[in-house]
Amino acid sequence: MATQKNYNRGAWEKGSFDAQHTSHDSDHHFIAVKSCKFYYMIISLTIGLLGGLSIAHLNAPKLSSQVILTRPANLPPQTSAGGHLPIMGYNTWNSFACNINESIILDTVNAIKTHSLDKHGYTFINIDDCYSEKQRDKDGDIVESKERFPSGMRTLTDKIHDLGFFAGIYSSAGWFTCQLYPASFQNEKRDAKLFRNTWNFDYLKYDNCAVPYDSIIKEGIVGKYKRMSDAIQSLAQETGREPLILSLCEWGWGEPWVWAKEISVSWRTTGDIEPKWKSVTSILNYNSFIAYAVDFGAHNDMDILEVGNGNLTYDEAKSHFTAWALMKSPLLISTDFNSITPETISILTNDEIIAINQDPLYGGSITPFRWGINSDWTFNSTHPAQYWSGRSQNGVVFMLLNTLEEPANMSFNLTESPWIRAGRQYAVRDLWSKTSNGTAVRNFTAHDVPPHGVVALLLQDDGDEPEGIEPPCSRMEWCTDKNGTVLPSQ
Ligand SMILES: *[C@@H]1O[C@H](CO)[C@@H](O)[C@H](O)[C@H]1NC(C)=O
Ligand SMILES: *[C@@H]1O[C@H](CO)[C@@H](O)[C@H](O)[C@H]1NC(C)=O
Ligand SMILES: *[C@@H]1O[C@H](CO)[C@@H](O)[C@H](O)[C@H]1NC(C)=O
Ligand SMILES: *[C@@H]1O[C@H](CO)[C@@H](O)[C@H](O)[C@H]1NC(C)=O
Ligand SMILES: *[C@@H]1O[C@H](CO)[C@@H](O)[C@H](O)[C@H]1NC(C)=O
Ligand SMILES: *[C@@H]1O[C@H](CO)[C@@H](O)[C@H](O)[C@H]1NC(C)=O
Ligand SMILES: *[C@@H]1O[C@H](CO)[C@@H](O)[C@H](O)[C@H]1NC(C)=O
Ligand SMILES: *[C@@H]1O[C@H](CO)[C@@H](O)[C@H](O)[C@H]1NC(C)=O
Repeated sequence: MATQKNYNRGAWEKGSFDAQHTSHDSDHHFIAVKSCKFYYMIISLTIGLLGGLSIAHLNAPKLSSQVILTRPANLPPQTSAGGHLPIMGYNTWNSFACNINESIILDTVNAIKTHSLDKHGYTFINIDDCYSEKQRDKDGDIVESKERFPSGMRTLTDKIHDLGFFAGIYSSAGWFTCQLYPASFQNEKRDAKLFRNTWNFDYLKYDNCAVPYDSIIKEGIVGKYKRMSDAIQSLAQETGREPLILSLCEWGWGEPWVWAKEISVSWRTTGDIEPKWKSVTSILNYNSFIAYAVDFGAHNDMDILEVGNGNLTYDEAKSHFTAWALMKSPLLISTDFNSITPETISILTNDEIIAINQDPLYGGSITPFRWGINSDWTFNSTHPAQYWSGRSQNGVVFMLLNTLEEPANMSFNLTESPWIRAGRQYAVRDLWSKTSNGTAVRNFTAHDVPPHGVVALLLQDDGDEPEGIEPPCSRMEWCTDKNGTVLPSQ
């Protein structure tokens, strides 16, 4: 899995792909899909420009040479290890913080295999802070802790790769990591080389601690992070190996959702998560306002999962997991497998929820269409938006979140979601009970959603709604007969 495949940045930048890239490999399949979308865009554009000219006159091969401005050249390339879809795997921090070592990590990898979590998509094993000695060696390189990693970091990544996983490492864009181990500011090239070439990692989480003085940096937040991105890309060019996947962790201080897609595949949007409901709702609320930034290769990182940790109830953990998955956050498990419960496993392995997170056709996040108990666009850390929808390859996804302390009936009109077609009815699939829940005409009600609970639905077009449904418009404002009569709203 971690062997090197042809890394083809050119294909992305030019938006073209030849026979060699149309293999059954899922990554390449993705490229084809994305390119198709762009072909469609260009075709539409061309139709617009030519006005009137029929599609039959358009010559497809000619079009392909016009498909130049597809993926902007400044976006980082996609690697065969991933990054265009949210990264799924494991991170050591929430479960072990600094108490990590090679045997704990290997035990964890084996537990992930035992529980078949890799089969559900969890394929990255990411080592967070505290893996190194406090000092660089005399050559200036970071060295792994002799006590915690006595066999050496490369031995560990070889084992991780042999077990079929990718491996991730951690550093910071400042002088030190958050736990004051050496970090990569002014050592970007050296460290990128160590992480990628010597230690053979596939992924780098890049934190924001130990910020150098302005008189030294003389760069904005973008420049500070671009240093590592540039180092990673130039190393890839030198060696011909795929670059490290870069994931930023600057806690949303500098609005990474507006710039970080040029240098990384994901960026943290807030401070650290805690295993508490109020932390989950606070991150959810914050991200509800920036969900528009999410797309393929560009993910708001809502932080490592707390599923299985602290005192989150079953319903709270389900809500947390559903929101993270449907908002296309990376899904990084971080709980102790020695005490994991079947309930926690069942949440983490809901393939119908994971399928939305990993949708190959639609890269965007679900977004709120109604806040619910609070008025629309209310910024409220304890009571975020409750009614959400988004697209997926299999239908329109809905998430209903009960932020109240008591059970609630939650109803919505289908066309409140922009993705629903007026005049159509929809077959409803409940992604948690994994049942078909009938056909929705005009509206749907979820009964008795538990406190802090969630409902996740997939609505599939099921043909025209029955004739004669009143009123004639599902939304009555400006509902107008073709003879010009505007119907009363009430
Ligand atoms: C890792 O930590 C565990 C738990 O503290 C301990 O049992 C184990 O011996 C340690 N392994 C190494 C290599 O330090
Ligand atoms: C969880 O812990 C927080 C404080 O740490 C507390 O306020 C809350 O009531 C607890 N929730 C449950 C369900 O026990
Ligand atoms: C958040 O919304 C809830 C529900 O409307 C409300 O009770 C609470 O006061 C709000 N919090 C703030 C800080 O406005
Ligand atoms: C939800 O609706 C059902 C059926 O209409 C009703 O019996 C129940 O009391 C309602 N629950 C709440 C919390 O309003
Ligand atoms: C749903 O539709 C009904 C009937 O068309 C309307 O009365 C109601 O206000 C709508 N509710 C929302 C939240 O749009
Ligand atoms: C839901 O739509 C049906 C028509 O299918 C209508 O009879 C009913 O009043 C609507 N309910 C709500 C709450 O809008
Ligand atoms: C869908 O149906 C199942 C099985 O009857 C039920 O458990 C579940 O609560 C229903 N879901 C919704 C959202 O009504
Ligand atoms: C126009 O349409 C309205 C609503 O359907 C109807 O009540 C009215 O009679 C129509 N007027 C004419 C002139 O056809």
